[in-house]
Amino acid sequence: MTNSLLEVRDLRTDFLLKSGRLRVVDGVSLTVEPGQALAIVGESGSGKSITMRSVMRVLPKTARIAGGSVRLDGRELTELPERQMRQVRGRQIGMVFQNAMEALNPTLTLERQLTEHLSWHGICGKAEARRRAIETLGDVGIPEPEKRIRTYPFQLSGGMRQRAMIAMAMVARPSLLIADEPTTAVDVTVQRQILDLLAEFKARGTGIVMITHDLGVARYFCDDAVVMYAGRIVERAPVRELLARPSHPYSTGLFRSTIEVGGRDRALAPIPGAPPDLAQRPPGCAFHPRCERAESVCRENEQMLLPLTVNGVSRGTSGRPGAVREAACWKVAAHG
Ligand SMILES: Nc1ncnc2c1ncn2[C@@H]1O[C@H](COP(=O)(O)OP(=O)(O)OP(=O)(O)O)[C@@H](O)[C@H]1O
Ligand code: SF4
Ligand SMILES: [Mg+2]
Repeated sequence: MTNSLLEVRDLRTDFLLKSGRLRVVDGVSLTVEPGQALAIVGESGSGKSITMRSVMRVLPKTARIAGGSVRLDGRELTELPERQMRQVRGRQIGMVFQNAMEALNPTLTLERQLTEHLSWHGICGKAEARRRAIETLGDVGIPEPEKRIRTYPFQLSGGMRQRAMIAMAMVARPSLLIADEPTTAVDVTVQRQILDLLAEFKARGTGIVMITHDLGVARYFCDDAVVMYAGRIVERAPVRELLARPSHPYSTGLFRSTIEVGGRDRALAPIPGAPPDLAQRPPGCAFHPRCERAESVCRENEQMLLPLTVNGVSRGTSGRPGAVREAACWKVAAHG
């Protein structure tokens, strides 16, 4: 059997706080194949960014990977020495961060940043690096790239800065791109252009993980989706199946307004109540204090992701090979 491009198994990440260890990623498993896009959705604080930062191993100083496995093309990343991990970052995995300025150095021109990135990775010499940097700026839709390459990030508009960040992530042609809310800070026209650009990378075989609050973006761009709640995946499905027929009560609540208005380009709607304080994770199913369908058994039993089946036949995957439909709720796993 061939390896997946990205295979994350039972990943756990903790923050080491004065008050003790706080688990914010709790047993996350996911896979991404070349040329496929996976959406990660969930309310603010559910652990989307920390999950993918754990994959990249770009975590705040107080965070530690506590267990699990991250394989890129079959190679384990969690145990790689930091020196080798630096080679993986940028070269094999590109990341578009939630905050554009985190990826761009405000004191260096785009030329310095892009060319140093390529030469640091030993990908090519100076002249070739300059040529590739200009080409990539052109690819991401920055006009007059030969001229713009001499500008500093602060001289660019929000949309152009976002493109420059995508250029940084893609200049080394990584096989996996992690995009954390890549279109949140830009207007609708630029959003469409950025998605078209990412779609081109995808068509060329780049695997993409897209963290987004925007269900329209997920539907337009992604193949599969996972829904996160309190550091865990509570539902996994092909994205269209998930948005048309969410199963887990959390997903149903999250997507309700989308379904009621016909499902076009709506952001996530708030669910009554608030996500739990992770230091005081509710016992059993962590969603039970907010769940309309909760029963006493939900407070007592942890919920595992289970395949959704009807009479033993896998449900709601449109028959796509490799597609999986799972939910972490005994009610829907048992009865649909
Ligand atoms: N530096 C930190 N120290 C302590 N806890 C943190 C830190 N950064 C994040 N957290 C906690 O980790 C959890 C997951 O955060 P994360 O940033 O992954 O959420 P998210 O799903 O990406 O949210 P958003 O949609 O707002 O970006 C949250 O509960 C958050 O409070
Ligand atoms: S396990 Fe119970 S509380 Fe959790 S989502 Fe299902 S019905 Fe709701
Ligand atoms: Mg985030």
